[in-house]
Amino acid sequence: MKEIKTIEFKEDILYLIDQRKLPLSYEIFECRTYRDVDFAITDMVVRGAPAIGATAAYGVVLAAREFLKEDKEKFLANMKEAMELLNRSRPTAVNLMWAIKKMKDLIEENKDLPVNEIYKKIKEEADTILKEDIETNKKMAKYGNQIVGKKATILTHCNTGALATAGFGTALGVVREAFYSGKDILVYADETRPRLQGGRLTAWELVQEGIPSKLIADSVAATLIRDGKIDLILVGADRIALNGDTANKIGTFMLSVLAKEYIVPFYIVAPTTTIDFDIETGKEIEIEERGSEEVTHIENIRIAPEGIDVYNPAFDVTPNENITGIITEKGIVKPPFKENILKLK
Ligand code: MRU
Repeated sequence: MKEIKTIEFKEDILYLIDQRKLPLSYEIFECRTYRDVDFAITDMVVRGAPAIGATAAYGVVLAAREFLKEDKEKFLANMKEAMELLNRSRPTAVNLMWAIKKMKDLIEENKDLPVNEIYKKIKEEADTILKEDIETNKKMAKYGNQIVGKKATILTHCNTGALATAGFGTALGVVREAFYSGKDILVYADETRPRLQGGRLTAWELVQEGIPSKLIADSVAATLIRDGKIDLILVGADRIALNGDTANKIGTFMLSVLAKEYIVPFYIVAPTTTIDFDIETGKEIEIEERGSEEVTHIENIRIAPEGIDVYNPAFDVTPNENITGIITEKGIVKPPFKENILKLK
């Protein structure tokens, strides 16, 4: 498997593959301050729930580095402000809030140490988050591969690969595992309007790996599903409620309705860091709305008339009754979701 270093921290600089530029050019975006990190997450230089979480953790490292010379009180006050900014950079992916909370708790537990000792602990924690995410992905991939037949046609949405995580991927990680374990698979990748994460990023990863695949316009999925051409649908998640309701890229809900109608297994692949144990249902999930230019423009070229209003939610919520199972690093969770999700805590 080709190694894709989505996120790399070296000598006080965070290096991110600039996902706004792929696949036409491969560029690295450098973050030298936590404000750069805030920009990178907001503008989607980096995206995908687990990747956002790990990036935000390094944002906290960069903030701590910047405030290293301050006295303790000022250091703690500045850190609080920096973490609040990072926490707001994107609202739906709970991995972001999870990573920031981990850092907040760590700082609180160690607030009596000298500032440079706190910095060291923050850096170690960010390294652990990054490393553990890759390990978690690989565990999920092994569990997920159990439900992939020897010959299978898989439909996926958005990008859930190495680019969306610290490496390897969630739903696309299962695809990788199935492919490398010798299964005869074919992947249909939705292009995923408006940001085209499927057309740009998933397609790029699939081509890099040589995994048999076809890119489709989103509206093709219904015909493929009705015609019995899809054996399995695998998607990622940005936030999962206790009852299993799942927020993921806009268009996921539509696929789940089709899957239910035509009885195609529909699985979410996500680490337990994507579960929000504080919310009961998907109704409590904030859905990010993004700028109208994502819909009216492609590559800075206007494709819709001036003056048109746009509605651009970045995510939707798939109700738990449309979900066959949730593949996590701790195993595959089946209904009743609430009872079984609570066992993962
Ligand atoms: O807006 P994005 O590109 O950050 O949305 C990404 C998704 O919806 C992914 O499916 C999700 O984050 C899971 S990625 C492993």
